[in-house]
Amino acid sequence: MGMTKNYFSIALLNCIVLLGCVRSGLHKTHTDWKVTGGGKENLHYSSIKQIDTSNIQNLEIAWVYHAENKDQTRFGAMECNPIIIDSVMFGVSPRLKLFAINARTGKELWTFNPADSVANKTWHRNSVNMNRGVAYWAEGEDKRVIYTVGPVALEVNANTGKLISSFGRNGGINLAAGLGRDSSKVFVAPTSPVMVYKNLFFLSGLVGDETPGHIRAFDVKTGQQKWIFHTIPYPGEAGHETWEDSTAYKHMGSTNSWAGFSLDEKRGILFAPTGNPSNDFYGGNRLGKGLYGNCLLAIDAATGKLIWYFQTVHHDVWDMDLPAAPALITVKHNGKNIDAVAQTTKTGFVFLFERETGKPLFPVDEVPVVDQSPLNNERLWPTQPMPRLPKPIVRQAFNHSDLNRLVSDSSFRTIEKRFLGYRSGKMFNPPSTEGTIILPGYDGGAEWGGPAFDPKTKLLYVNANEMSWVLNMVENKPDPKKVKTNFEAGATLYTQHCMGCHGPERLGGGDYPSIIGVEKKYTTASFIQLITTGRRMMPGNNSLSSEEKNAIAAFVLNLKEEQQKPFAGAATKNTVAPKQGYGFTGYNKFLTPEGFPAIQPPWGSLTAINMNTGQHEWKIPLGEFESLKAKGIPATGRENYGGPVVTAGGLIFIGASADGKFRAINKRTGKILLELDLPAPGVATPSVYAVNGKQFVVIACGGSKWEGKSSDAYVAFALKDQ
Ligand code: HEC
Repeated sequence: MGMTKNYFSIALLNCIVLLGCVRSGLHKTHTDWKVTGGGKENLHYSSIKQIDTSNIQNLEIAWVYHAENKDQTRFGAMECNPIIIDSVMFGVSPRLKLFAINARTGKELWTFNPADSVANKTWHRNSVNMNRGVAYWAEGEDKRVIYTVGPVALEVNANTGKLISSFGRNGGINLAAGLGRDSSKVFVAPTSPVMVYKNLFFLSGLVGDETPGHIRAFDVKTGQQKWIFHTIPYPGEAGHETWEDSTAYKHMGSTNSWAGFSLDEKRGILFAPTGNPSNDFYGGNRLGKGLYGNCLLAIDAATGKLIWYFQTVHHDVWDMDLPAAPALITVKHNGKNIDAVAQTTKTGFVFLFERETGKPLFPVDEVPVVDQSPLNNERLWPTQPMPRLPKPIVRQAFNHSDLNRLVSDSSFRTIEKRFLGYRSGKMFNPPSTEGTIILPGYDGGAEWGGPAFDPKTKLLYVNANEMSWVLNMVENKPDPKKVKTNFEAGATLYTQHCMGCHGPERLGGGDYPSIIGVEKKYTTASFIQLITTGRRMMPGNNSLSSEEKNAIAAFVLNLKEEQQKPFAGAATKNTVAPKQGYGFTGYNKFLTPEGFPAIQPPWGSLTAINMNTGQHEWKIPLGEFESLKAKGIPATGRENYGGPVVTAGGLIFIGASADGKFRAINKRTGKILLELDLPAPGVATPSVYAVNGKQFVVIACGGSKWEGKSSDAYVAFALKDQ
């Protein structure tokens, strides 16, 4: 007893000395990582400073947790930024199993398999297996983890891992309902965690080309839909007039907020970044500015009413979705502290707005940009908004002088010849049939990892890609008289629904597999099942009729007999008169014959921007190729996905890079202090937390993004015990 008493009084004394500790709520927020992104403001910042620039060399692996717990050579993407609450870490596996583990030891407490839930069995037609995090809500002892699996939102008891059956119907809600469209035809699958505010949570998410990305609020306890904000406005709603087709709200899709939200809890303002309307590269059927596509939206969290918006690309035909939740930061501007919101873009800009009004803090010019489009019926917007500060984080034009000089003379001549045939030389070049260079690329500039912000120094850290892509458009020339057989219908449908990813020759490219020879792997039934439900990053196709799916199967699986049969479906807009006048031939990177980017390095970078002044403090290449390093070529940077975190210990932690390294970087200078190998690339943002005074940093190492490694491991680092 004496011991205990003694210990208690020492602890009490410590608390008084440390202050703060007695206000334990405060103490806890600084050691937990309660929300994806480190907090609702999405700063990716931790005030813990046990690991610092002086002891970083003592960092070692503290534990590894295998989320799938079984041998498998290849897992899907694992891009989750896990949350840590009261020493328990919650995250998801590559197959979207939810887990709770002891954050100090990595020991599993419970797992929840969504495949077992009734709600999931009822509604889960689409199996997009990707999720960048989960959310947490608590009221006294009622503690819940909220997460989404494809089109289903679920709630699980945070203590036991059991489904909360009083939520929604049997513990889940069907997100395909409530969008104001035929729910059997829509495709929705949020890939970012929901945002919680009081007893509400918000979501939008990845959607199909014919599903609107409206933003919705749900009641945490009942699952009831509380409000909906139409990202494609209805008649009578502001912004409806920005669509020349006044019926767009009935059939247009996307315009969704897939990258996640930030929340100013005190003011009750939800910040939602949106992407472009469908289709990505041809806008002849959606003329006009197209609000609220490519916007940063400030929405009243309680009511769903729009407070302000800023459109970052007008009439986007380059797939320049806003890629990350904005950072809610405070800066010193003209001598005053201003609460602001910083939005990174794929185009390589950082927009900075006053948080309450949306007024840009640095001037934004409407710059004349485009030559008119060579495509029929397309009309591009003549200007685009460009902030004068901060300066862009990446190159925004591909000129002759940017061609990769690290390759052999013959390789150089090959890329030079291709280059001369393409439209190039600036951003916002019109998509064309001869080929248009897209730089910054479809994956940025900035990407979904989002930036990190240090509230003390006001530096914003943004990682970025500098990859050039080639966009080739092809005209759809449908002839109603031609669609007589399954072969003809299948070929037309393939162009519209599959070619964008699998290419005109079905060879795939980039992240998309070749589907030549798939008849060896799939029966007609299993193929139709696959294209109906989708798989991981391949969306499902609920809007196609069974006759249409049959025709695609006959075409892709080379079923000669089936191909010759008359097409049994109705001659719909899909088979006869496609809604879009053009398709595109796929996501093709512009590469050298050796497989390196056709542009000069850097190919991936990390930039520190002083948000008070808008000036860059430093920029470093992020990642390297062993083969080039061996030749003595300085670090080139590589493609990277997943963001950085910054700490009060003077460090930036980041994985992200395709080279599979985990890096600790001096936040002041940009000097790389430590590089450790991960089991597979850490395509995710790390989380920083402490348990019993010991600091940890953890990252999901899913890989799978590139040809190389794939893993189900969450790896936690801490200092070696002295
Ligand atoms: C948005 C891009 C995208 C679109 C559109 C798309 N796919 Fe896919 N597809 C993928 C990806 C990514 C995969 C790999 C899925 C995985 O990781 O399991 C894939 C996988 C496949 C596979 C399995 C390949 C294998 O080796 O097992 C087939 C078959 C396929 N797609 C056919 C189609 C057809 C037919 C369509 C049109 C109806 C289509 N896809 C549309 C991206 C896409």
